[in-house]
Amino acid sequence: VFGSRVAPDLAPNAIACALDRRCGDGTPLLDLTESNPTRCGLSAGPSALRRALSQLAADPAALLYDPDPCGPAAVRAAIAGYHTRRDGCPLAPEHVVVTAGTSEAYAHLFRLLCEPGDLVHVPRPGYPLVEQLAALEGVATAHYALRKPAHGARWRIDLAAVEASLTRRSRAIVLIHPHNPTGAWVDPADFAPLCELARDRDLALVSDEVFADAADGPGERSALLQGRDAPLCFVLSGASKVLALPQLKVAWIAVAGEATLRDAAVARLEHIADAFLSLSPLAASLLPALLEARAEIAEELRVRVATNRAHLARSVAPHPDIELLPAEAGWAAILRAPRIPPEREEAITITLLEQHAVRVHPGYFFDLTEGAAAHWVIQLLLEPARFAEGASRLAEALANAG
Ligand SMILES: Cc1ncc(COP(=O)(O)O)c(C=O)c1O
Repeated sequence: VFGSRVAPDLAPNAIACALDRRCGDGTPLLDLTESNPTRCGLSAGPSALRRALSQLAADPAALLYDPDPCGPAAVRAAIAGYHTRRDGCPLAPEHVVVTAGTSEAYAHLFRLLCEPGDLVHVPRPGYPLVEQLAALEGVATAHYALRKPAHGARWRIDLAAVEASLTRRSRAIVLIHPHNPTGAWVDPADFAPLCELARDRDLALVSDEVFADAADGPGERSALLQGRDAPLCFVLSGASKVLALPQLKVAWIAVAGEATLRDAAVARLEHIADAFLSLSPLAASLLPALLEARAEIAEELRVRVATNRAHLARSVAPHPDIELLPAEAGWAAILRAPRIPPEREEAITITLLEQHAVRVHPGYFFDLTEGAAAHWVIQLLLEPARFAEGASRLAEALANAG
């Protein structure tokens, strides 16, 4: 009776089973996979949210339902203002489509760009969500490789491999800028040939920039919103990462590229969004006030991530066989253990849960398979005292496993 978009086997994997068993025994878990900022004792986002909610409670307009499929005009204007300031080039409110989360933004784009069975190209390693979202829309994914140079934080796109993997069913190339979990920006030297390739082959570029404000340093601008002769492109971002407020379920798509194509894309996105009207205008209307607090929120996150990254660096420093990979942005860190074969990632992850009460993600969750080394991905948001304890148990256990 069921279609094939959802895999028939939904049984939990071995790590999820170990976690379930552990939850029964009552020992507190140090969860280094925690990426939900509302569980990490942060205060700037919640304070801004309280202020915005009390303003909204006093606003009679909040009592009216007057849906606009692309989002309320004032919200689109606030998002356009955010990109105009951040990226240093004007973005018009009419080119912004507000969505109920970034996942919905991806789903709308796959509906806009693809026939069932068409192909979207996604980076590997990468955050595993995009493939799942594509599959739910009947769209296939092909991986293109990101390569880590021997030195430095910037992973590079294997452009020849991208080109070689294109087929006549290819519709879009997805970029994650900055990337999760490598924390690397797309290198400007990779953007220009990708734009050229997309223009030549009638492909769209989708740039997921949810972590663009989580930079260690000045960061990069959205290269796609700058180019006059850019191909059709879509920049994604949202409140869950920019404001550390995932409970809003508000994200957006900024559309750019050649004017006729761009306007046709916005009109079609409006048609798609109109079929669902899934965005809560009430939640969206909090965004203008919240975006005014974004510098404060970003600074608290920056300090949290830097503090925890320093704890992690100190914990692994005595162990030369565990390497903390450099990163430029984002909320994640990658540990690489060249003396541990990748096949042992899962068993060690389970031992960490069962014997050390520490939870981490194995590298294979993110297709981190470069070289014959094991990897683990750690989220850097946890409250620092708990994070430091988790990092030191983790480093000891990995050193003993190697
Ligand atoms: C690169 C990337 N894009 C999108 C998302 C999902 O964002 P949202 O919470 O807005 O659905 C995540 C979540 O971690 C992510 O890592």
